[in-house]
Amino acid sequence: MKNLLIATALMAGVLTTQAEEKKVFRISTDKTDLVLQVGDNGRLYQTYFGEKLLNEADYQNLSWDVHAGSDGSISQRGWEVYSGSGNEDYFEPAIAITHNDGKNSTYLYYVSSTTQPVEGGTQTTINLRDDKYPVDVTLHYVAYPKENVIKTWSEIKHQEKKPIILSTYASTMLYFCNSSYYLTEFSSDWACEARMSNQQLQFGKKVIDTKLGSRAAMHTHPFFEVGLDQPVSEQQGQVLMGTLGWTGNFRFTFEVDNAGNLRVIPGINPYASNYELKKDEVFTTPEFIFTLSYNGTSEGSRNLHEWARNYSLKDGKGSRLTLLNNWENTGFDFNQEILANLMKEAKHLGVDMFLLDDGWFANKYPRKDDKAGLGDWEVTHDKLPGGVPALVKAAKEAGVKFGIWIEPEMVNPKSELFEKHPDWAIHDENRKIYYYRNQLVLDLSNPEVQDYVYGVVEKLMKENPEIAFFKWDCNSPITNIYSPYLKEKQGQLYIDHVRGVYNVMKRVKENYPNVPMMLCSGGGARCDYEALKYFTEFWCSDNTDPVERVYIQWGFSQFFPAKAMCAHVTSWNKATSVKFRTDVASMCKLGFDIGLKDLTAEELDYCQQAVANWKRLQPAIMDGDQYRLVSPYETNHMALNYVTKDKNKAVLFAYDVHPRFQEKLMRVKLQGLDAQKNYKVEEINLMPGTESTFKANGKVFSGDYLMKVGLDVFGFAQTQSHVIEVTAQ
Ligand code: DGJ
Repeated sequence: MKNLLIATALMAGVLTTQAEEKKVFRISTDKTDLVLQVGDNGRLYQTYFGEKLLNEADYQNLSWDVHAGSDGSISQRGWEVYSGSGNEDYFEPAIAITHNDGKNSTYLYYVSSTTQPVEGGTQTTINLRDDKYPVDVTLHYVAYPKENVIKTWSEIKHQEKKPIILSTYASTMLYFCNSSYYLTEFSSDWACEARMSNQQLQFGKKVIDTKLGSRAAMHTHPFFEVGLDQPVSEQQGQVLMGTLGWTGNFRFTFEVDNAGNLRVIPGINPYASNYELKKDEVFTTPEFIFTLSYNGTSEGSRNLHEWARNYSLKDGKGSRLTLLNNWENTGFDFNQEILANLMKEAKHLGVDMFLLDDGWFANKYPRKDDKAGLGDWEVTHDKLPGGVPALVKAAKEAGVKFGIWIEPEMVNPKSELFEKHPDWAIHDENRKIYYYRNQLVLDLSNPEVQDYVYGVVEKLMKENPEIAFFKWDCNSPITNIYSPYLKEKQGQLYIDHVRGVYNVMKRVKENYPNVPMMLCSGGGARCDYEALKYFTEFWCSDNTDPVERVYIQWGFSQFFPAKAMCAHVTSWNKATSVKFRTDVASMCKLGFDIGLKDLTAEELDYCQQAVANWKRLQPAIMDGDQYRLVSPYETNHMALNYVTKDKNKAVLFAYDVHPRFQEKLMRVKLQGLDAQKNYKVEEINLMPGTESTFKANGKVFSGDYLMKVGLDVFGFAQTQSHVIEVTAQ
């Protein structure tokens, strides 16, 4: 058998020399090693992925599973880092190509590699090449030691004469050899985002994918967790947490093979996307970002939060603007005077900004509901005679900043834009058109359309340089797929459309780097780390019922830091108190979308205090470490605390969601404090005129006590909340 392997290696020509050297790559963080090794056959295999190994010598002893065939032969099947189709690996490949001669196999051999320091970590680049076709694949890994996060993506290119057809193009592959695997997935829909559910992975494939094109994460989000040897748990156990930076169709494949090993394959969903790759064109896959935690998801989330704030999220280290939005309050029904009054209300509330939502634009087909006007980004003169400049001025007079809603990737057929450029909308005229929210998606694969979409922002900014914020919405999936621009290359549409979206976002960021932007997609249907390079935050859900929000925010917090997650106080679920609604929103980036006329004097007073408290506690909530303490999925309550980096300030949010009569109430043990320090605990966000029922209010405890004994903060009443400020003495 060995001879056979050597013969195979020889066939790889120049690659043999390096292969014989047993080249080993360590992609290491402070806690994790991903080890890859060039096999005797010249191909690249994963030999280890797990807790960091302490001894250098041990890396040489690593090997991957060898497979014994029924005829007694031994092969190195499985564990290939970027496995090609049509070879001896009988399971899901990373890449599948139809070459110019019509053949379908791809075998990739190691060629060369480099490592170099990059911001926050080390980048390892490994070049692979097919020995029979001029096809190159480059694997990139960036390891962030401190945050224990690895980011990886791949590049594919070739020099065949004609285009090759890519029918699978994963970002990477990861392998696991454990006794059992448990997947936590995050399903979603409008107003019920980030619903967590668990299942054991058994033999065969479990696929999580989306085919929506745009608003692509409406039914499931681009992230997952896999518990190794045990179901995913908050505080203990080994868990892989992975997320794909792609705002379009994505696919996660989890395949347990005949030997009980798991492979995880994240990537763009190749559904209806056979990609014609031209000679020398580089196909870059999206980044897959992952962490392996050895202490459950709570630690894994902190790894990702820290990584995002340090290296990925737009303005990750900056502060965030509190705001008053008008969508839930006025809908489309407003005029200049109403808005000017709301700006004064924003000031009165103490927030930083007024955010004007949908309904301010279009003249021939005014945007008075969601049936018309999208695409015509001229202010509706009848409704707002002074235009946007008058609104900016009114905001200035009121003493708040001004932000504005746009949905520039979309068009209503009832619009001047569609009348002029029907070919700019993705749709097949030969078919009965299916409209989602009465609109179509503009064809962003077309550079002319990209210019138009970018122009929406540019025009607003040129006219109103003081616009301080954009809420960028995206309410429709792609329906009736056909791009007049791409003509016979329809296989590129889902992918080139998303790339077009990024081109526009990139231009916006380059030209207006200091304008914060909220990513929104009919709620939280866009929530990925590629889009968040251009956005400071995202709208988690149109569902602002605080009971539902407890679950939604718990779900998103698995992958995103609080400063990326927008939460607004609204009139949803009026059966709950304004205090409960505000306390739930305060655990994320706080905003309001409620008329002050809907609040009593006490409630208004309370909200003003809550805004001031939130602003004061930003170093903990926005920039500190988050510890999820009590899960709403496992109990009738929820609690989490944030701690500043210096451990001098913490804030505990505790919610009684739907407690049962006489249930056993457990103390909440805080986390992340300094055991040696003493802390004063004080209840804040109290309704005026009410006394704190928190028994320990005003007392001082050691960090050790607070973390080991904990605080009695839960109660028996429905939808009650306590916010406890914890201050080192
Ligand atoms: C969907 C968003 O999620 C809402 O917040 C709001 O902006 C509407 N679109 C406006 O049409």
